[in-house]
Amino acid sequence: MSDRVTVSVIKADVGSVGGHARPHPLMMKKCEERLADGLRAGTIDDYYVTRVGDDINLFLTHTRGENNRDVHGLTWEAFMDATKVAKSMKLYAAGQDLLTDAFSGNVRGAGPGAAEMEFKERGAEPMVFFMADKTEPSSYSLPLCRSYMDPFTTTGLVIDPRAHEGFKFEIVDVCDSKKVVMSTPDETYDILTLLGDTTRYAIKKIWSKSSDIGIAAVVSTEKLNIAAGKYVGKDDPVCICRAQSGLPAVGELLQPYMFPALVSGWMRGSHYGGWYPCAVDDSDPVFFDGPPRICAVSLHVSNGVFQGLEDPTSPRGTHVALDYFKGSCWDKARSDAVKASIYMRRHGPFMPAVLGPEEMEYTTRPAVLKKLKERMEKLE
Ligand code: F6R
Ligand code: MG
Ligand code: MG
Repeated sequence: MSDRVTVSVIKADVGSVGGHARPHPLMMKKCEERLADGLRAGTIDDYYVTRVGDDINLFLTHTRGENNRDVHGLTWEAFMDATKVAKSMKLYAAGQDLLTDAFSGNVRGAGPGAAEMEFKERGAEPMVFFMADKTEPSSYSLPLCRSYMDPFTTTGLVIDPRAHEGFKFEIVDVCDSKKVVMSTPDETYDILTLLGDTTRYAIKKIWSKSSDIGIAAVVSTEKLNIAAGKYVGKDDPVCICRAQSGLPAVGELLQPYMFPALVSGWMRGSHYGGWYPCAVDDSDPVFFDGPPRICAVSLHVSNGVFQGLEDPTSPRGTHVALDYFKGSCWDKARSDAVKASIYMRRHGPFMPAVLGPEEMEYTTRPAVLKKLKERMEKLE
């Protein structure tokens, strides 16, 4: 058996009940069934099915490495079957994120989002899985910079010897499909120069600079608008973080979300709203199709499989992940997010409530400009 494990989270919106709100339980069940088939066939070693808003998130462990054809194919089949369920019930936007009829070996570029990391398991491997709805990958840049670069957030950067060595960041230019690896703390200001532009740059991966840890975090950065050749939806990205022992502690990963940053997405993928931290069960968009949501759940990876809080009523001992944003401690952040979102809504269709013209998922601008072509005069 390989001494390295791969953790993959592959996610897609393939239809929902109540508009773009929540996948039907039978769609989730269908995904569970397909992944159980994959487990029996030895394609994967374990799975966990969850969701945020209208997105189904498939968590997998296996030893096949990143971008594996069989693993991606299994999730593609699961999403296809869930789409069939959604279509049979005439649910909304059934199959939305499956952009092709023929699977070509990898879900990347085909619509679903994927975050995958391969590592050698430590003595204990606590992981935090962030799942966002109604927003885009660069939304993670601010909280990740706080957790991995800011000693006023992560005291570990100052007092934990291995965290103190710093981190390497892979930053992608999502518009031009380019990437660069940069280092903290030495290049901190240069990193922020790029990442401050959330319309173009996003963090893809973070590694520890300490010799014995490896990968620390990974974000799904497939931009659906580019994959589809046109804008068909914000990515609703996931971010996987390994935690503790030389990496940011769970608390240092979560703290940034106490500030509900304004992130892009929300209604029609075209607005800024306050990022609302919530439990998975509370992740249905309810205010102006949002506001943008963020969930954080934890499972350990133990001997190549997931370890959570087991459900004693389930025959298989189905995993139950720890749901961090469930508790009342996060009520203040939720209320701040709603307050910020109401403030933004007061601007109606004016910037900065709506995104810049290049980023709008919906627009009538070209048609209106075309109509006005003859009437538009040069200024004196
Ligand atoms: C945002 C989202 C929704 C829809 C909106 C309009 O990611 O999913 O806000 O954009 O409900 O949807 P359509 O165009 O399907 O009527
Ligand atoms: Mg949807
Ligand atoms: Mg969504």
